[in-house]
Amino acid sequence: MQTFETIAALRAARAVFRDSRQTVALVPTMGNLHEGHLSLVNAARQRADRVVASIFVNPMQFDNPADFSAYRRTIEEDRCKLSASQVDILFYPDASEIYPEGTAHCTRVEVPGLSDILCGRHRPGHFVGVTTIVNKLFNVVQPEVAVFGEKDYQQLLLIRRMVADLCLPVEIVGVPTVREVHGLAMSSRNNYLSAQERLQASALYQALCWAREQIQAVAVPAYREYAAIELAAMAALETDGLRPEYFSIRRAVDLASPGPDDQRLVILAAAWMGSARLIDNIRITLK
Ligand code: PAJ
Repeated sequence: MQTFETIAALRAARAVFRDSRQTVALVPTMGNLHEGHLSLVNAARQRADRVVASIFVNPMQFDNPADFSAYRRTIEEDRCKLSASQVDILFYPDASEIYPEGTAHCTRVEVPGLSDILCGRHRPGHFVGVTTIVNKLFNVVQPEVAVFGEKDYQQLLLIRRMVADLCLPVEIVGVPTVREVHGLAMSSRNNYLSAQERLQASALYQALCWAREQIQAVAVPAYREYAAIELAAMAALETDGLRPEYFSIRRAVDLASPGPDDQRLVILAAAWMGSARLIDNIRITLK
């Protein structure tokens, strides 16, 4: 595996692949890698001749500077994991390479509406930071394919929307969420939790599964009480020692509120456990 820290060096290596007609799949990450990230790498390997992974803790998407500073950087372990997963190139730029003029006045890419709900409502500016960096990474790496986790479902939808709106020539692949044995979605933020807290935090996934059962148990769409299920799930999370931010049943296609005819739904939740903000979701297809 080769590591490049500058855009120029990455582009030169990318050009060699293009000259030999080899396709490239990109896996963008912020490092502190776990099995969830590596499942994206595996999906990328199946879809292109070459895999480029990026590690960049993107300052523009952190709404809280303390969270940015505390984000765990584990570059040597990450490098070993990526190399063992047969990544061809690691792009590991410094913030000064990506934002030479800083982030305050740089050009932004925004998907209005979809950026402002759910996680966007609780983390103002976060998704503008995400779509801006992902667009920049696409311009630098110029991949045929880019792979993202369904764990960050709103992020995945935003990126699909950005790609469609801006006619970007990239195929976006979504990969199912990888979980710990008790159901907790793997996340770099789980490192902030003790073993006991991790177990307790699996209540988030259990609440999602409970809500799915409640929805599926009612055959007549007009009788499904989405708001009551959301409230009951929020209360259950509090009882289990989490501090829920939202618990919401939405249409899977665009995160709008579901109507009686909608069959593809997603249940999304965010909750704090100690100092860790956790998010998760599950999808449902109704008959
Ligand atoms: P990060 O949190 O490092 O996640 C990188 C990718 O891994 C994202 O696509 C995310 O959805 C995926 N991922 C994380 N946990 C996962 C799990 N348990 N199962 C499957 N996939 C998982 O998301 C970001 O970084 C950033 O916002 C980024 C897209 C890199 C832009 O800065």
